[in-house]
Amino acid sequence: MMVFTAPNDVCSAIGDWRADGDTVCLVPTMGAIHDGHLALVTAGKKVAKRIVVSIYVNPTQFAAGEDFDSYPRNFQADQQALEEAGGVDAIYAPPVMYRDQHATHIMPSGAALPMEGELRPHFFSGVATIVFKLFQHVPADYAIFGEKDFQQLAVLRQMVDDLDLTISLIGHPTVREGDGLALSSRNHYLSAKQRAIAPLLYQTLSKSAAEILAGADILQSLEKAKNQLLAGGFKKIDYLDLRNTNNLERTLTAKADDRLFVAAWLGETRLIDNCAIGSQPFSSV
Ligand code: PAJ
Repeated sequence: MMVFTAPNDVCSAIGDWRADGDTVCLVPTMGAIHDGHLALVTAGKKVAKRIVVSIYVNPTQFAAGEDFDSYPRNFQADQQALEEAGGVDAIYAPPVMYRDQHATHIMPSGAALPMEGELRPHFFSGVATIVFKLFQHVPADYAIFGEKDFQQLAVLRQMVDDLDLTISLIGHPTVREGDGLALSSRNHYLSAKQRAIAPLLYQTLSKSAAEILAGADILQSLEKAKNQLLAGGFKKIDYLDLRNTNNLERTLTAKADDRLFVAAWLGETRLIDNCAIGSQPFSSV
């Protein structure tokens, strides 16, 4: 497994592979590699010969007061996890991605406006700008992203379409713990007590999804789910919405691929999750 830190080096390795007829898939991450990231690698390997995992904690997607400084960083552990999992041809871990005079930002609208975009207005501009730059450095055939961050995936699909990028994006279902909690680098922030409460997020979401699909009143079901989360130990719900998968607008009709989206605070940790209302109801293993 090769490790690149300079854009020109990774770019020319990709050029060599593609000249040999190999297809390439990029898996962008901020490190703190877990099984959710590794599932993206496995899925990428099914479509492309070569896999490049990028690791970069992107400052422009964190606002002042968010967890940029405390975000887990351990390159050696990440490298070992990727090496042991197998299938990764190269890591791209640039120490810096922005020059001091950086002054150009992608400002996505549309799918970027509600939910995360409303609460964290800096966020999708930071994500779109860094992913665009990563696509320049790693000119891959495919890039794969998790549905855990479904809105991020929608915003990036919109960017690829709007800016005529030739890369193909692939979405991958959320990887969960046995109790339903979506794997996330931020789960490390949870205390043992909070970790015991955290699975309630997806359990409540998936119960509400099943109810709505079966014809329950949508607003009442969402209100009930919010109250259950608050009663179960969540401190605050930022949003719990039913939205159309294509443009992420709110919907009050219940089609199987409409999705419930939630962001909620457990102490000082903010967890997000989502599920299609037509997905299988959760049952713990
Ligand atoms: P990060 O949070 O490290 O996630 C990297 C990729 O892993 C994203 O596509 C995310 O959706 C996916 N992922 C995380 N947890 C997952 C899970 N439980 N199941 C499936 N996929 C999961 O998302 C980012 O980094 C950044 O915003 C990035 C796109 C790298 C831009 O900086």
